Amino acid sequence: MLAIVAFVFLFQVVTCSSNNANISSADEPLPVVLWHGMGDTCCNRGSLGAIVDLIEQQVPSIYVRSLRIGDNEEKDFSNGYFMNVNDQISFACQLIRSDDKLKNGFNLIGFSQGGQFTRALVQRCSLPVRNLITLGAQHQGVFGLPRCEAVTNNLLHNSVCDFVRKLLSLGAYNSFVQKRLVQAEYWHDPLKEQKYKEKSVFLADINNEKSPRNETYRQNLVNLNKFVMIMFEDDSMVIPRESSLFGYYETGNIKKIVPLEDSLLYTDDRLGLKELNESGKLIKLTIPGDHLQFTDDWFTSNIIEAYLK
Ligand SMILES: *[C@@H]1O[C@H](CO)[C@@H](O)[C@H](O)[C@H]1NC(C)=O
Ligand SMILES: *[C@@H]1O[C@H](CO)[C@@H](O)[C@H](O)[C@H]1NC(C)=O
Ligand SMILES: *[C@@H]1O[C@H](CO)[C@@H](O)[C@H](O)[C@H]1NC(C)=O
Repeated sequence: MLAIVAFVFLFQVVTCSSNNANISSADEPLPVVLWHGMGDTCCNRGSLGAIVDLIEQQVPSIYVRSLRIGDNEEKDFSNGYFMNVNDQISFACQLIRSDDKLKNGFNLIGFSQGGQFTRALVQRCSLPVRNLITLGAQHQGVFGLPRCEAVTNNLLHNSVCDFVRKLLSLGAYNSFVQKRLVQAEYWHDPLKEQKYKEKSVFLADINNEKSPRNETYRQNLVNLNKFVMIMFEDDSMVIPRESSLFGYYETGNIKKIVPLEDSLLYTDDRLGLKELNESGKLIKLTIPGDHLQFTDDWFTSNIIEAYLK
């Protein structure tokens, strides 16, 4: 296990550039905070780094902060697999609270697992978030971890994928695994719903499945200006892909998907999603393509123009 973790640290070093924007004033655009997905880092030039550049090009003088979970990019990468998500949320909360440029409000965007992490950040940290946007998130968790290799796209990283898969089949709800493996913390087995509710240290908590429910979680989501969720129609990574819009397998039946609107989580409104929807603040978008496959043009008109300006 240590040998595999050590592989992760061989991950190519890329310096994390943070463009220090000017102090924000009233007429400057609202800053934006990004949280990357699994197998990615804050500043990878081929993925989130490019999104940072795109936003900066489209919105002059905007302050963009791409969260780096850990002291350097290698840690940021491996923490996406091995740092307890609850600790990651606290870490991210501190990063944001200690950034003066974010204290007067910001928009928040989460990519893939960063989607449910940003939502947890809103629920737990009571930050001044205006719009929350999640792309290809796993809001109801996953039951399957295919194509890990395709995301990480690197031979060394493939050993991480194998390792993660082995741990998950070993027992996602085992407390050792729950505390240490990120993907187990949003593993949602529809055939073991009760066990999931009891043992899931992250997802069952932020989805208010534990008792007593946390009213702060609900209140913080209801306070958003907009909560925008994006699902990729041909997503082969998120199993089931409807999880990006809070849909999920019916309990005990992996042949049937229950959309958000028909779920108990919506009708009892434990997360305030019904209230958000009824006031026109819950936006569900579906776009063609596989996981996180979108063009700069799509991102510019549907995200930047629509929600960041
Ligand atoms: C911010 O920008 C203005 C004008 O663009 C400049 O005068 C000011 O010194 C800048 N402030 C900081 C802290 O960089
Ligand atoms: C609800 O969540 C908030 C924010 O994480 C926390 O401070 C509070 O203790 C929680 N309340 C309960 C009853 O668990
Ligand atoms: C959610 O909001 C949309 C648009 O206002 C509405 O058409 C839809 O019926 C709502 N869904 C539910 C289940 O209330």
